[in-house]
Amino acid sequence: MLSVKHLLGIKHLKKEDVALILRTADTFLDVINRPIKKVPSLRDLTIVNLFFENSTRTRLSFELAEKRLSADVLNFTASSSSVSKGETLVDTVNNILSMKVDMVVMRHPQAGAAQFLANRVNSVIVNAGDGAHEHPTQALLDAFSIRRKLGDVEGKKVVIVGDILHSRVALSNIYCLQLLGAEVAVCGPPTLLPKYISSLGVKVFTNLVDALQWCDVANMLRIQLERQDTRYFPSLREYTALYGLDTSLLDSLQKEIVIMHPGPINRGIEISSAIADGRSSIILDQVENGVAVRMAVLYLLAGRTPEI
Ligand code: CP
Repeated sequence: MLSVKHLLGIKHLKKEDVALILRTADTFLDVINRPIKKVPSLRDLTIVNLFFENSTRTRLSFELAEKRLSADVLNFTASSSSVSKGETLVDTVNNILSMKVDMVVMRHPQAGAAQFLANRVNSVIVNAGDGAHEHPTQALLDAFSIRRKLGDVEGKKVVIVGDILHSRVALSNIYCLQLLGAEVAVCGPPTLLPKYISSLGVKVFTNLVDALQWCDVANMLRIQLERQDTRYFPSLREYTALYGLDTSLLDSLQKEIVIMHPGPINRGIEISSAIADGRSSIILDQVENGVAVRMAVLYLLAGRTPEI
């Protein structure tokens, strides 16, 4: 059993919770690679996916995870709902729950929105990304992907590169990887590193070559222009020159590292196409693994036991 009722952030999880989710995801990864990719585990549940912010991977991955578990699925997009007529978040969700919905998966542009909802409605809440705060299922699938690629997360050196300041992926990854015993570093321009970052126990690099020479795994993040109200560096061209990963830089390391990216990729800015599509990249494995990890999260939050 998980120690939490909701999945609001990795910060609320114990190491045992993460280990249980990853173990359960191993089983579901086998399930989704079988000719019949479905199990009846959640056929008695209805789950709503509430997306107040754009998404490709997370929205489709949750929907597929729910369908693979045989849950009934409702999809809600804020722009085409009565939210645009002034309805509050709590009223919207309580109306949906009145239709006998059992679980809410929510992405929202405001940090803390998932916690706010969990405090006010009577349902299980799964945070699918809240502003620049946390993206717990992304961190779980990233840890799962590292474990499958390298055998273990413990003792591995993982650097998260790019726009750490605006990244919910970075914060959730730091919490999750540290829980599992990895050494974690961040790398980026000083203007895109939060002032509090050292207090999280991470190494801090401002030079990408130094960071890549240190690490076993590099998780490349995009620049989140949609969350930036000011300019943090002179130009994207300059950012790419200093923090973009391309073949000549990777080759110059003279060692193998694993390349990750949560998506969406901005090809030619933080990562070249040759690297994104190259043999060191596990970017599409992350996407595949995301379905299995989200199946595990939903299954365990529904109170099901790990024996599938
Ligand atoms: N990684 C991720 O959250 O991607 P989406 O924004 O497409 O869901």
